[in-house]
Amino acid sequence: MRGPQPIEAWKGRLDSLRRETLGLLDLVSEETAAAFAHPEWSPLRWHLGHIAYTESLWIRQTLRGLPPFDANYERLFDNIHTPRESRGDLPPLSDIRGYAEEIRKDTRRFLEEADWDQGNPLLADGYIVDFLWEHEAQHQELMTLILQLLPPERKRRRQSPEPADWYPSRRMIRVPGGEFTMGTPGPWFSYDNERPPKTVRVREYWVDPAPVTNFDFGAFVHRGGYSDSSLWTKEGWAWKERTRASLPVHWIPGPEPTAHADSEGLAATTRAGLPEGARQLDWPFDKLPMGAGRGPGVLLAPSSSTGSDPSNRLGGRIMSVELRQIVRLHVPWLERTMFADVPLRLDHPVTGVSRFEAEAYARWEGKRLLTEEEWEYAAAFDPATGGVRRYPWGDDPPSPTRANFARRYFGTTPVGAFPEGRSACGALDMGGNVWEWTSSTFSPYPGFVPDAYKDYSQPFFDGTYAVLRGGSWATQGPLLRCSFRNWYPPDVREILAGFRCARDA
Ligand SMILES: [Fe+2]
Repeated sequence: MRGPQPIEAWKGRLDSLRRETLGLLDLVSEETAAAFAHPEWSPLRWHLGHIAYTESLWIRQTLRGLPPFDANYERLFDNIHTPRESRGDLPPLSDIRGYAEEIRKDTRRFLEEADWDQGNPLLADGYIVDFLWEHEAQHQELMTLILQLLPPERKRRRQSPEPADWYPSRRMIRVPGGEFTMGTPGPWFSYDNERPPKTVRVREYWVDPAPVTNFDFGAFVHRGGYSDSSLWTKEGWAWKERTRASLPVHWIPGPEPTAHADSEGLAATTRAGLPEGARQLDWPFDKLPMGAGRGPGVLLAPSSSTGSDPSNRLGGRIMSVELRQIVRLHVPWLERTMFADVPLRLDHPVTGVSRFEAEAYARWEGKRLLTEEEWEYAAAFDPATGGVRRYPWGDDPPSPTRANFARRYFGTTPVGAFPEGRSACGALDMGGNVWEWTSSTFSPYPGFVPDAYKDYSQPFFDGTYAVLRGGSWATQGPLLRCSFRNWYPPDVREILAGFRCARDA
């Protein structure tokens, strides 16, 4: 017989997450919440119904053996049987909220009354509580990316703190090869696809310390990356031709950059006001030296930079404001952020790119994407102990000084802005900010056994899904664990994903 289950803590955890879900719906009008922001993504309001439906399916129907609470809702919010196209005809939000609250009452009662020691794997160690929590957290992230697709004027602005400026070194990190335990080794909650852990050997490689920035990707665009078929895989090029993609999803062609017409004089004047070390910044993009991760990090930080040296800050916020001023003058794109269209933020990670675009960019730089083995090794392996960390920085839970996660900033932050969150090898942003495309295809680990929810991973092992790692600015803390795997078809662009590059040693 185990000790008493932390029922009150479980209820508190579920309820506090629910408040965040409802808070996301409060950002838009009822009408907007019911509409499709994009044909590939269900309306916001549908997600609340689906979250409640899932709770009902597992607690009420599976564990309690009761009939569905509302047969109509069970059908409408069942993701398997209700095609996306028919998810636009939804009951009023107040009805769906009422439904969710009724289901939650049922859940609370169940948590109090359940026999937690009956040997049911759904109950062991509170599995079902963690499962429902993570499921809702994942739908919050979907709701967030849908919100991001809506024009700013359709959302109620929410205040967020400003992240600290930080310009990390952009020099690649040499990761010595070795063996490590991939997958979840811990007693904490994990999904079936993270198990069983396995021993994996990786060869020595180089990895970028941070994800590819808008600055980096802008150079790729400006230099004709989208029209050079030699950079693309066959599949990627066919996708690009079919979709006519020519910019990341959230980039908007902006007003003509004034400096092009205005002579070099203005640019030179602006540059002269920058601190030493930033003056080599040269615009427009075609004057930049090619490749090798030449983002604002390398241009702004002194060459002797080591991540934690405060002298790297080079004037901190003042620098950032000036940088933004230059961008306004010279960069031909705006960027759609959650609440405004702004001049492209050069030191932020590029997002809104498919894996095809990520692969083409990497090849353009003479690099490649990481395999998921390499990604997890760079994130989790600690040579000091020979073991793996739960999160890139260690086993302590995510905190605001370690990562951009859980919508604290409601958007990306400059790459590497959280030096306390670096992994043992020195890689930054491996937890939060943006998901990172890897070159790996989603597949089961040897000895895979599906959990009670058999359709969580298994239907996606058909070889058509690419693995993403690391979590985004909208991902909730527990999902930043190094072993967590996300997957999407390689042509999806709306997810909050970017990528980092590697190369062979
Ligand atoms: Fe779901």
